[in-house]
Amino acid sequence: MILDSSISAVVTGGASGLGAATVKALRDLGVKVAIFDFNPETGQKKAAELGAVFCQVDVNDEAAVEAGFAAARAANGQERILIACAGGSRPTGVGGGKTVSRNKETGEMVRHSTDIFERVLRLNAVGTFRCITHSAAGMMALDPMDEDGCRGAIVNTGSVAAQDGQIGQVAYSAAKAAIAGMTLTIARDLSSEGIRVNTILPGIMATPPMEAMRERSPQVYAGLNASVPFPRRLGKPEEFADLALTMCRNAYFNGQVVRLDGAIRMPPR
Ligand SMILES: NC(=O)c1ccc[n+]([C@@H]2O[C@H](COP(=O)([O-])OP(=O)(O)OC[C@H]3O[C@@H](n4cnc5c(N)ncnc54)[C@H](O)[C@@H]3O)[C@@H](O)[C@H]2O)c1
Repeated sequence: MILDSSISAVVTGGASGLGAATVKALRDLGVKVAIFDFNPETGQKKAAELGAVFCQVDVNDEAAVEAGFAAARAANGQERILIACAGGSRPTGVGGGKTVSRNKETGEMVRHSTDIFERVLRLNAVGTFRCITHSAAGMMALDPMDEDGCRGAIVNTGSVAAQDGQIGQVAYSAAKAAIAGMTLTIARDLSSEGIRVNTILPGIMATPPMEAMRERSPQVYAGLNASVPFPRRLGKPEEFADLALTMCRNAYFNGQVVRLDGAIRMPPR
């Protein structure tokens, strides 16, 4: 796929971090981009800065996603690219925790909240799946753009936690493993329509949630950097964007789940 001003893209979670870096990389090539994000302040600002369209969308809200795709297509035309970055380790204001733990004072057994488990799965796995179905349905109406019959490309965002989830990360690792697990199946489902699907599993990336730690706990932040075999630092959002664009460009990249992690393997804690 040639990335230029003749095509358009939707980037979920595009107001910040990995999504924003991908919006920038696409815009640098002239691709028309719509940012889907539930944060209107950062979303509007990023869209204005990068020359993108902003659509206030919570990927967990079916009606908002439908309206977002309608608005994006009205502004930019039917997208050939979906980059699904919206997600995270927890819904606002709630924590993780072990599957079952012991209260240190009372010895009482504390079960992980099933509600929180479900919400983290919904945010990451269901939200990603919802956007994929809307986007692929639109792409299927497009004419193929090359001799292979390619109509579009989808890139999802998992996490290395899908493969090496740490203690206390059960909801997040299950949610990201679900995204990894759906990748090949969806690539096969959409193969007859010429739509490719791949997933990136980032390691520890220098995005705002991680950079906040640099201020809060500089020692922990330095330790995280040192824990990456090589390069001995956090990943740059631009490095994520570079791989996402490669997955779109390269016609033979399909059904893959790829770690982008400086060779880190997360320890149990
Ligand atoms: N930063 C890392 O180290 C790292 C590592 C592995 C995976 N990831 C994954 O990468 C993705 C992007 O993370 P980031 O570090 O760039 O974070 P970020 O907070 O910088 O960006 C995430 C963006 O997604 C938006 N968002 C969150 N929930 C949403 C929803 N329901 N609907 C629409 N928008 C929503 C936020 O408003 C934000 O703008 C996430 O899926 C995260 O789990 C990040």
